[in-house]
Amino acid sequence: MSLSAALFLFICFVGRRHMHELPIEVIEQHVVKQSGGAYRIPKGALPSVNLVVAATSNEDYSWAKKDLKVPGMVVIPYIADNTSAPYHPQMNKGHEAMMYHQYFYDFYDKLPDISILVHSQSHSWHVDQLLDQSMIFSLNHLDLREVQQRQFLNLRVTWGFGCMAGAINTTRANEESGVLPEQKEMQEAFRANFNLYDIPEILATPCCSQIAVTKERILSVPKEQYKHHIDWLLHTPLEDSISGRTWEHMWQYLFLQKAIDCPLEHKAYCRLYHICFGGREQYDEYIELQQGAQKLDQELLRIKQLEGNWEAHRKEKEEAAKKNGEKDDEIKGTIEVEQKANNKMKLRLQEELDSIREAIRVRKEIAVVRGAVEVNRIAEGEDLYGDDWEPSADKAFLKEEDKTKVVTSTSTVR
Ligand SMILES: *[C@@H]1O[C@H](CO)[C@@H](O)[C@H](O)[C@H]1NC(C)=O
Ligand SMILES: *[C@@H]1O[C@H](CO)[C@@H](O)[C@H](O)[C@H]1NC(C)=O
Repeated sequence: MSLSAALFLFICFVGRRHMHELPIEVIEQHVVKQSGGAYRIPKGALPSVNLVVAATSNEDYSWAKKDLKVPGMVVIPYIADNTSAPYHPQMNKGHEAMMYHQYFYDFYDKLPDISILVHSQSHSWHVDQLLDQSMIFSLNHLDLREVQQRQFLNLRVTWGFGCMAGAINTTRANEESGVLPEQKEMQEAFRANFNLYDIPEILATPCCSQIAVTKERILSVPKEQYKHHIDWLLHTPLEDSISGRTWEHMWQYLFLQKAIDCPLEHKAYCRLYHICFGGREQYDEYIELQQGAQKLDQELLRIKQLEGNWEAHRKEKEEAAKKNGEKDDEIKGTIEVEQKANNKMKLRLQEELDSIREAIRVRKEIAVVRGAVEVNRIAEGEDLYGDDWEPSADKAFLKEEDKTKVVTSTSTVR
């Protein structure tokens, strides 16, 4: 405890010292503070923001109006299955992709500076664990200036679905692919949507289609093209869930013309949500702690389940022992010993889990304090897509032969 308190003070002190060395306009960029999050605004006028919520009529999105602290944010609900709703797609088809395209089309001539497009759930696994799987936490901590800088970004940061595992290989068009049912359809979907024959081999971006994009980027695509995407979703013979999912892998291409868009996780957390662990190593340590906690949790659950079924377990043991000809009090003795050992194990695991959870909590708190200081964010967030020390996702996907090609071609130039 005292160690973390000391660290906290150290960071505040170092942070403050650096703050004074920063030009005043940089400090002034970050004046708005609210209880629900450390909300930051760029210098100058507030960017106008639309929050587009893709919902069905029975989904509750009232959190978007109640719990968000982003000043001036306007909520635009698109209702999939109600053509009397003020905003709705032509048809309930293609999931959120249809509604996002309909929004780009409908609002093309009256866009705000930033449009954020999300699902109707306030909490879901679609949002990263570090962000409490909460869209409310995410948006209340979102740095709009970062959105303005990057122009388009995925609100999800981790690579687990969509960037490494779950990236699409478009050449696998004839293979069954249970985990990624949309993979074998991607080649056709990409061709049909972008009228391209030569399509990228790998499409990679964090999963789940919750994105933020600037007015400039939306306008960089002709209005008629959104209509084209809507028509594709309307007429494709693909199942609804599949056609919607193909778009998870295409937004980065639509807005950035990039097939692979996977910023490094710790840098992205730091720049976008102001949660800064201090570097790759510290971030990896945090992830390891989290994985450790998950393992302990499972182990503990197993023991608790055994405890819940103890009577049945005891009877089973007794009968087996009797068959082996053991004496009654001997049997009782062994079972008692087992129960005691289990109990001890449970207490030990619980203690260990509590202390890991505390370590996780403290580390995250310190990361939030570190992230509140601009210089810390600048230091950690530089080279968002990687450098010599931390390779980018693009490099990871380059095949051996391509790497040699790259080397050869640069050496020829020299
Ligand atoms: C459809 O939208 C209209 C207009 O907002 C509303 O009055 C109506 O109750 C909605 N219908 C359903 C089934 O939610
Ligand atoms: C994509 O899939 C093809 C066919 O399975 C394979 O040969 C190729 O190496 C894959 N590409 C990458 C970059 O993994």
